[in-house]
Amino acid sequence: MQIIICKNGEEVAKKTANLILKTIKTNKNPVLGLATGSTPLLMYKLLVEDFQQNCTSWANVITFNLDEYCGLSSNNEQSYRYYMNENLFKHINIDFSQTYLPNGNGNFKLNAEVYENQIINFGPIDLQILGIGTNGHIGFNEPGTDFNSLTHVVNLNEQTIKDNARFFNNDISQVPKQAITMGIKTILNSKVIVLMASGINKAEAIYHLVNTKPTTQWPCTALQSHDQVIIIIDKDAASLLKKS
Ligand code: PGA
Repeated sequence: MQIIICKNGEEVAKKTANLILKTIKTNKNPVLGLATGSTPLLMYKLLVEDFQQNCTSWANVITFNLDEYCGLSSNNEQSYRYYMNENLFKHINIDFSQTYLPNGNGNFKLNAEVYENQIINFGPIDLQILGIGTNGHIGFNEPGTDFNSLTHVVNLNEQTIKDNARFFNNDISQVPKQAITMGIKTILNSKVIVLMASGINKAEAIYHLVNTKPTTQWPCTALQSHDQVIIIIDKDAASLLKKS
């Protein structure tokens, strides 16, 4: 596990964006695993700026997002499909048919199986971007998730619902209670995994990611078994590492 400590979130975004661009430029048909949430927002802005300034082509790129809420339509502003379209896809030259997210409508369980098969068909994912939850979740793999899990339907736990209420007018009742997420095994099947985090609220999860023996109580600890993991974090997220 390589750990890169940056001075701030801006540097985290820049370094991660550069790794994505390198993957796009060095692979003929790059397959990217992408994440949503507040952490990667600046990274997507930098990728859009790169496209405008340097015209890096996304024409051959295939993307798979980690997760999607159940029950939100793709034009719902809180859906991850909407997020990806608005923050990245509509600003670059990627064919929308090459951008995959789990389908959060219809038969969720079947959609999860279909998604896993799509990843297998196009994969392995060359570079998977991850954020991390304050409870150590990766994707929506909440504490207790089996490390052998494939794409599946999850009941979001209380902490995640609370953390994500900020995107739903701080109204917990509006946050969907279920999501479809790549499983931990799905994530570990990627060739390279980059986990990005910034802010003091991620420090405890980062501490466990690095120091705690693999345990399902901290899903992020599953990453210790992968030999190509890069952790890109700011000083605040790394603050408990220094003491340890
Ligand atoms: P955040 O979410 O980037 O909005 O903090 C990360 C996560 O929950 O995986």
